[in-house]
Amino acid sequence: MDPLFLILLLSLAITSPTSSSTSDSLSEGSSLSVEKPEDVLISPAGVFTAGFHQVGNNSYCIAIWFNEPSSSSSPDSYQNRTVVWMANRDQPVNGKRSMLSLLKTGNLILTDAAQSHVWTTTTTSISPARLSLHDSGNLVLLNLKTKVVLWQSFDSPTDTLLPLQPFTRTAILVSSRSQSNFSSGFYKLFFDNDNLLRLLFDGPEISSVYWPNPAYVSWDNERSTYNSSRTAVLDSLGSFASSDNLTFLAADYGAKLQRRLTIDFDGNVRLYSRKMPGESWVVSWQAFSDPCVIHGICGANSICSYDPSSGRKCSCLSGYQMENHTDWSSGCQPEFQFSYGEGESRFLQLAQVEFYGYDYNEYQNYSYGDCEKRCLLRSGHRWNTQGYFYLRLPKAHLFSNTDIKPLTNLGFSCTEKVVDLGREYVKDRVSKPEKFLLWFAYGVGGVEIICIILVWGLLSSTFSKSNEDIHGYLLTATGFKRFGYAELKTATRGFSEEIGRGAGGVVYKGILADQRVAAIKLLGEANQAEAEFLAEASTIEKVNHMNLIEMWGYCSEGKHRLLVYEYMEHGSLAQKLASHELDWENRFEIAVGTAKGLAYLHEECLEWVLHCDVKPQNILLDSNFQPKVADFGLSKILNRDELRNSSFSRIRGTRGYIAPEWVYNLPITSKVDVYSYGVVVLEMVTGKNPTMDVEITDGEQRRLIMWVREKLNGTEIASRIGEIIDPSFEGNYDVEKMEILLTVALHCVEEDKDSRPTMSQVVEMLQHHGKESQWQ
Ligand SMILES: *[C@@H]1O[C@H](CO)[C@@H](O)[C@H](O)[C@H]1NC(C)=O
Ligand SMILES: *[C@@H]1O[C@H](CO)[C@@H](O)[C@H](O)[C@H]1NC(C)=O
Ligand SMILES: *[C@@H]1O[C@H](CO)[C@@H](O)[C@H](O)[C@H]1NC(C)=O
Ligand SMILES: *[C@@H]1O[C@H](CO)[C@@H](O)[C@H](O)[C@H]1NC(C)=O
Ligand SMILES: *[C@@H]1O[C@H](CO)[C@@H](O)[C@H](O)[C@H]1NC(C)=O
Ligand SMILES: *[C@@H]1O[C@H](CO)[C@@H](O)[C@H](O)[C@H]1NC(C)=O
Ligand SMILES: *[C@@H]1O[C@H](CO)[C@@H](O)[C@H](O)[C@H]1NC(C)=O
Repeated sequence: MDPLFLILLLSLAITSPTSSSTSDSLSEGSSLSVEKPEDVLISPAGVFTAGFHQVGNNSYCIAIWFNEPSSSSSPDSYQNRTVVWMANRDQPVNGKRSMLSLLKTGNLILTDAAQSHVWTTTTTSISPARLSLHDSGNLVLLNLKTKVVLWQSFDSPTDTLLPLQPFTRTAILVSSRSQSNFSSGFYKLFFDNDNLLRLLFDGPEISSVYWPNPAYVSWDNERSTYNSSRTAVLDSLGSFASSDNLTFLAADYGAKLQRRLTIDFDGNVRLYSRKMPGESWVVSWQAFSDPCVIHGICGANSICSYDPSSGRKCSCLSGYQMENHTDWSSGCQPEFQFSYGEGESRFLQLAQVEFYGYDYNEYQNYSYGDCEKRCLLRSGHRWNTQGYFYLRLPKAHLFSNTDIKPLTNLGFSCTEKVVDLGREYVKDRVSKPEKFLLWFAYGVGGVEIICIILVWGLLSSTFSKSNEDIHGYLLTATGFKRFGYAELKTATRGFSEEIGRGAGGVVYKGILADQRVAAIKLLGEANQAEAEFLAEASTIEKVNHMNLIEMWGYCSEGKHRLLVYEYMEHGSLAQKLASHELDWENRFEIAVGTAKGLAYLHEECLEWVLHCDVKPQNILLDSNFQPKVADFGLSKILNRDELRNSSFSRIRGTRGYIAPEWVYNLPITSKVDVYSYGVVVLEMVTGKNPTMDVEITDGEQRRLIMWVREKLNGTEIASRIGEIIDPSFEGNYDVEKMEILLTVALHCVEEDKDSRPTMSQVVEMLQHHGKESQWQ
């Protein structure tokens, strides 16, 4: 045998154990080389691999990835690896002579070809240390003698949190720059100083928090600032819990799957799972279903719109062009030189658009003309939330058919803005303007100065058929999905599972293509023009409150009209009353929640909405028995002028709950809902159905109210309450709470509408009482 060959064999036998490819650990004095693809650590059960991962042409990072790539087509092609951790994402090393070495001193270092130390754990250990990769995905440097963990990758996450990896006050998840570029991107998930888990857009020029919704205070987001432990963890079954009270479950909760929580390059946080190693990942939870809510996603001076079927779309404002044709995050730049001379600019109306940016000032109750004047003075102007933006552009850039349409009869509000436009997105929530001052700005350097005026407006009145394009844009831009009839037919399995009947249609349970469970209402055949239907649907969509049912989309195809809502697990209040499942506490909470929902409809919504059919069938209950009022947008949407003229001609509502105004043809106001609400509360307290209960029905409309009044017969409620209260309580109730419910209900069902309280007064009465009793 050739001696040279023997020596070669010998040397192979000697060297291969130290740079072994099958090891799960690295001992002191050994290293992994970038030039040997087999130089990796594999966790004992083969779940994870750690080693050099190629991120670009001749550039490598130390990383941990799932051993099985997400496509079996070409095993271990680095492009398809699911990377969960990286040491040096912002400073990749050369593909030649780079090494990861565990020194005798206990320090783990990454050296580049040029011998520079790119990354190090800065650990020291007198006794021997070892680096090992666990099946949890944790890479751990352990002092072998004392068993002290010197360093572990779980303490410094990259963009991914693995099951049982604690997320702590010092940890930050930072997104990747793009799908193919692993370097640090613009989005961060972290515990903020007030103990809340937040998402921050940390762009090149500005930063702003976009989750939880900054328009609301923490408790409206159901977060708590009180627990300062600032920890969160995802368990292996798919449940996430954070010390700020944020909890969520994976859609496939309970199954033992591979899981990871990742802040993706688009700023959304998603929980992924996969059934079998090597299969592709599915999203089992995400922070946003509408990506346009994420700040900075389209860059400056551009508009983000979203349609679940076609995804997110960025486009430049009129008069602007994309700055970098391969990268939306650079946004758009003006195609014109701005000059401020009088008469040289005009305003372009933009509907359903929200720019967050440098609000200079806010003016309540300004007319369009006043806003325009201020804007011309300042060269900067803006307003927030629902209504219109007016974008100041040079005359030449305004097309004649997109001229502004000043609104006349409304209260206006505008905010001054010294600016350029912000990074911006299309709003999908109704919020109070003052709250929106919390949205921070994105400026692009003050080269161009653009003026924006925003005006409160009634969308349905101005957004008539005059501009079908904008109308179509409006509906898709808000992330409000237009479904196809066939799609909904499939979702409901041919309209097979009826779950209720309401105003104008039958409601079916359905499962949408994205696996969301929905309540799908099939409206009676087209007795309404499409434009009118769309106007109403878009109104419902914009109404958003925790005690109002959420609408996800609609379908208008030929003669078919359908509405798609969130599905409520506990059905309607009517069902629960019939089955006597609700205790007094549930009922009190339902009364409060329903009042809040109606108060919002009457008083806080931009479009003034009357429900006109408040009844237990239209009050749905979620998994915590919190009420959500349904069917509200289907009544005609009145504006305040119509209120005076009272254009309602035919009776709306349901027998037993109808206010006397309908019967006597008196002006219809929000007090009709107050009346119906009063009847519903009486029903909850007494357990008697005003339309069906034998004891109280004898063809008389307001028999339940009379029955209660007769029972009380002018005496103190407290002395007679036992005779009135629902016998199914069997005496278990809070006398004081039921008394306040009865008092409020009787107040609400006064014959004279002006004697009835408003819904917000009802909320106050119920809540004030709640507080009082807590002090006792
Ligand atoms: C990734 O993005 C960063 C920042 O834009 C850039 O510096 C780097 O060159 C990019 N890397 C690759 C591999 O494209
Ligand atoms: C990658 O690097 C090689 C040389 O190392 C070079 O020939 C090739 O053009 C590079 N490819 C790209 C896309 O930069
Ligand atoms: C990565 O996986 C996708 C499918 O998930 C496949 O189409 C593609 O060819 C794979 N790429 C490589 C380089 O293997
Ligand atoms: C915590 O969350 C629950 C619902 O998940 C909510 O009912 C509760 O009010 C929240 N607590 C705080 C302090 O926000
Ligand atoms: C704070 O949060 C931690 C982690 O969720 C929890 O274990 C602890 O009980 C909470 N403390 C209080 C006072 O609620
Ligand atoms: C456009 O963006 C890409 C990706 O970030 C970058 O590589 C390129 O240099 C940019 N082009 C210009 C002209 O800035
Ligand atoms: C807004 O203006 C109208 C008419 O000028 C006035 O009646 C109303 O009180 C004003 N509202 C506020 C909030 O200033």
